[in-house]
Amino acid sequence: MRKQIAAANWKMNLNFSQAQAFITELKSEQFDITDHRSVVLAVPAPYLQFTTEAFKEVAGFSIAAQNCYAQKSGAFTGEISVEMLTSIGVHHVIIGHSERREIFGEDNALLAKKVDLALEFGMTPIFCCGEPLPVREAGTQNDFVAEQLKASLYQLTAEQMSKVVIAYEPIWAIGTGKTATSEQAQEMHAYIRSQLATQYGQALADGVSILYGGSVKASNAVEIFQQPDVDGGLVGGASLIAKEFAAIIRALK
Ligand code: PGA
Repeated sequence: MRKQIAAANWKMNLNFSQAQAFITELKSEQFDITDHRSVVLAVPAPYLQFTTEAFKEVAGFSIAAQNCYAQKSGAFTGEISVEMLTSIGVHHVIIGHSERREIFGEDNALLAKKVDLALEFGMTPIFCCGEPLPVREAGTQNDFVAEQLKASLYQLTAEQMSKVVIAYEPIWAIGTGKTATSEQAQEMHAYIRSQLATQYGQALADGVSILYGGSVKASNAVEIFQQPDVDGGLVGGASLIAKEFAAIIRALK
């Protein structure tokens, strides 16, 4: 079975004492973590090292950065390199979140470089794609997402591609309380998988975890995660409450 993943994306939320309280509470919850289920916590950069330490002995939990830079090192004030991340034991990174694309102007070409660099350093990129509302309304979301995949991922070899996690996050569903229906999620996830199959072959496509993101909460997670091509979720708002996120973890297939 493909890896099923519950990923928390805290974004720029929680101060350090709130983060510590969350971690303590989440660690006290019971989960049935097996080989095919895992949890990723994408916490703000200042808490990466602390969180990595806190979950070091907890099987199935990984810590992720929410971003990284597209250069190895140098005069890039304020940026975080992949080597810095791996050197503190962080081996996952979100790349191309729609907020990075829309607010910080990150384009497909820059994201391709970030994906390359993350893989070069042995990290797992969680690559985000997804269309804005006007594209969905025009009915051209498949072409839009296909282009995002092509422009930022298809430079990869099959071996590299097999290490990437994809998150489909329709922008109109992020932080809006408006979730894609489970049918809309399934439809796009199946489409993404078919694109990967065309590019890399069915066997590889069948092994790639594709997460859904956009207003996932405990009350809708089971229905969304049950879809055959949905392999878990990337969760923003609902990942800030330990009990809520714990319930989302328990909703994994
Ligand atoms: P949301 O955010 O769950 O708050 O909609 C998801 C995301 O942006 O990753």
